[in-house]
Amino acid sequence: KHLLSIEDLSRQEVEQILKVARQFRETFDSPTKERTALRGRTVMNAFFEPSTRTRSSFEIAAKRLGADAINFSTSSSSVVKGESLKDTALTLLAMNPDVLVVRHSDAGAPFYLARYCADAIVINAGDGAHEHPTQALLDAMTISDHKSSFEGLVVAIVGDIAHSRVARSNILLLNKLGANIRVCSPPTLMPPGFGNSRIFSSTYHLPEALEGADVVMMLRTQWERQHESLFPSTKEYYSLYGLNASRMQSAKEDAIVMHPGPINRGVEIDPAMADGSCSVILDQVRNGVALRMALLYLLLGYPEEVES
Ligand code: CP
Repeated sequence: KHLLSIEDLSRQEVEQILKVARQFRETFDSPTKERTALRGRTVMNAFFEPSTRTRSSFEIAAKRLGADAINFSTSSSSVVKGESLKDTALTLLAMNPDVLVVRHSDAGAPFYLARYCADAIVINAGDGAHEHPTQALLDAMTISDHKSSFEGLVVAIVGDIAHSRVARSNILLLNKLGANIRVCSPPTLMPPGFGNSRIFSSTYHLPEALEGADVVMMLRTQWERQHESLFPSTKEYYSLYGLNASRMQSAKEDAIVMHPGPINRGVEIDPAMADGSCSVILDQVRNGVALRMALLYLLLGYPEEVES
């Protein structure tokens, strides 16, 4: 019923979501791109943490399907008067939304709110350092635009692994799809307990992670989740872990560069690389709309229509 974690999805369901998202994307350039499938439905974006891409794309996705989209953000809500998460959620749910899209700085918040949703569907739009399942799905869609198969694909995920919900959801999803994952970060930004296996490895050395990679996924340094200084300076971080053209040469010739955004230019990535020909960063943003349209469409009960 809900989408709280990538673990909620089978490989078959992931493939269906990507297929429907591609179908929606094909309509984007059509003058009649507005659809009415979700007319009368309400999608409530409950964002307790800032967002540009996720919130806007859920709003556009809902509107393109004919649904009403309501945006709630902490700074302009009664949360600033001290209203609790539970009371805020119960208040929003009393207005009878069909979907509650939740972003929160606490891991598990969307799971907690799902307990109060008898009828509404909850979609996790990022919970603390835990998961960001819709980001991983749009990332998979973007990868599949450039690579023929996930099987054996070498994906290097580089940066603040410890605090990244994007990394966690991508690891779960790419593993489900058969890719080989390499994670790379400074020792202080690597979570404990990552073992190495045939399809998963971790390293503190960027050249090792990039060697022969098909996909390089750079991560934002999550300052807001770091409660102490975890590396000496951004200059030193960039010199060891920043992606630039010279370092990219050790990846495959047709490798793509991804980043979930927002980017810290000159910290994890050279601006020329972020804007360069192998960057698919803005494609990720574009795919986010189609992917979220597919999710709303499928979660609100249209899989049979899609099948037919
Ligand atoms: N990738 C992502 O979640 O971006 P926003 O924080 O802008 O939504």
